[in-house]
Amino acid sequence: MSSRLIVGMTGTTGGIFGVRLLEALHGSDFETHLVMSKWAVRTLMHETEYSVDDVQRLATCTYRADDQGAAISSGSFVTNGMVVCPCSVRTLAAIAQGNGDHLIHRAADVILKERRKLVLVVREAPLNDIHLENMLKLSRMGVVILPPVPAFYNHPKSVDDIVNHIVMRILDQFDIHLDLMNRWDGVLKSGN
Ligand SMILES: Cc1cc2nc3c(=O)[nH]c(=O)nc-3n(C[C@H](O)[C@H](O)[C@H](O)COP(=O)(O)O)c2cc1C
Repeated sequence: MSSRLIVGMTGTTGGIFGVRLLEALHGSDFETHLVMSKWAVRTLMHETEYSVDDVQRLATCTYRADDQGAAISSGSFVTNGMVVCPCSVRTLAAIAQGNGDHLIHRAADVILKERRKLVLVVREAPLNDIHLENMLKLSRMGVVILPPVPAFYNHPKSVDDIVNHIVMRILDQFDIHLDLMNRWDGVLKSGN
């Protein structure tokens, strides 16, 4: 069986992170199973030139957010895990409480009950106590909280470089090691 990754995209600024992740896996051995929330679609249209069709074409399978009967709604559909990229604080809260209302929430709940890998690319700033408590609760259950925070040690030249670096670090979590951007090699530019 080929490897499968569930990709949820929710309504935060930075939908490009999810798009780039799908682009990175497009044509690889990894199947991507994509769900976009209503607000993911809205923010994507606002921030990028990508249409929903463009994004869906990058995935192996796509599901409607209101289709709770989709394959990824059941633990018997075996996957290597799930990433919510980007992840809104609303979806973070729904996952932390186990009472969400769309397929991304249900699929994440299934991942948790099956003890599979869940990575949440939570995008909000600043953070209130509710956000922090939800993140801590899930982290203690083994969920990886991976906010899309840029690094500068690799001298990004563009926003694209920053996006690629963050996507590379997300994929590292699933043991998918693509060199989308320079990695830290321990050598300071000064030569020290
Ligand atoms: C342009 C735009 C940008 C937004 N950015 C964020 C954000 O960065 N983080 C966040 O948690 N919510 C953000 N929101 C609000 C969410 O879209 C909203 O809470 C929504 O209900 C999330 O639902 P979902 O998790 O099902 O996608 C944004 C909304 C819009 C319209």
